[in-house]
Amino acid sequence: MSDLMDPRVAAEIKDEVRAFYDAVGWREVSEGLYQNARFEDLRPVSREYIHRCHMRVRDHLPGEGRFLLDAGSGPIQYPEYLTYSEGHTYRVCLDISMRALVEARQRLGDHGLYVVGDIAHLPFKDDCMQGVVSLHTVHHLPPEEHRRAFEEFYRVVAPGSSVAVVYHWGEAGFLNRLSRRVASWAYWLRRKVARLRGRGSANHQQRGTGRATTLTFTHDHRWAERELGHLPGFQIRVWRSVGVYFLRAVIHPHLGGQLLLRILYRLETLVPGFFGRHGMYPLIVYRKPAKRLAEA
Ligand SMILES: C[S@@+](CC[C@H](N)C(=O)[O-])C[C@H]1O[C@@H](n2cnc3c(N)ncnc32)[C@H](O)[C@@H]1O
Repeated sequence: MSDLMDPRVAAEIKDEVRAFYDAVGWREVSEGLYQNARFEDLRPVSREYIHRCHMRVRDHLPGEGRFLLDAGSGPIQYPEYLTYSEGHTYRVCLDISMRALVEARQRLGDHGLYVVGDIAHLPFKDDCMQGVVSLHTVHHLPPEEHRRAFEEFYRVVAPGSSVAVVYHWGEAGFLNRLSRRVASWAYWLRRKVARLRGRGSANHQQRGTGRATTLTFTHDHRWAERELGHLPGFQIRVWRSVGVYFLRAVIHPHLGGQLLLRILYRLETLVPGFFGRHGMYPLIVYRKPAKRLAEA
């Protein structure tokens, strides 16, 4: 796909996304919890699975270096995120939302450097970051700019260092569609059971599909293979193959939920490429080759 979108349309999309995060997404709704966290499953039964998925990102980042770029950092909302830059001197938090950076500063203090900017036009010189991570952000760009963002991450990462991006396939992917179907059946069954017990309908607010959200645009794994396959070391792995809708519908503490998630995690780890391509959230990784001595 080409980079030919009308720049005014692209700017309008980004303005809307920024306004959303400034006013809504990064508003604290309770102690340490943002409105954005309603799109996560924070129940104890899912905690271990979610934690392990967060830690997958760390396996693909350099353990040390001067700068780790967090592109679309948000406020560094989950404790696991802090571990990604433990071995770096600075975590460079770049975000389009000033509010995100003000919140990030409260968590990182002097370990952070804070830059308001756009991931599709990074204000950094080539080869300056000893690692790049970007979580749940590229899909907020207009679709014509996704490839550009991935290439910007590559441009700024130092030779020998890697990039890890959590992306979203939207409605694409057969495991993704299957898990949505299973979740719909589970909700249907819960409504039936609730009605039989005379308790009205099951609680749908738990689904996390409320309208308080902003613009997102997605591509499927074929697009990624075609448009990003040239990046050295390019791999599509799994970050998490199921979304919150599925987790809240199907995973319950009294119905073996934790065991089911352990099995799912194990399967994802055994065949990360398969779950990455066909599930919901891939972890896309690539690496800039180290310079040979003669070039250095
Ligand atoms: C879904 S949140 C994810 C935040 C964080 N990475 C996380 O996983 O919690 C998306 C973040 O990307 C930021 N963002 C959206 N579009 C952006 C852009 N074009 N450039 C930089 N940041 C952007 C938003 O302001 C928001 O903080």
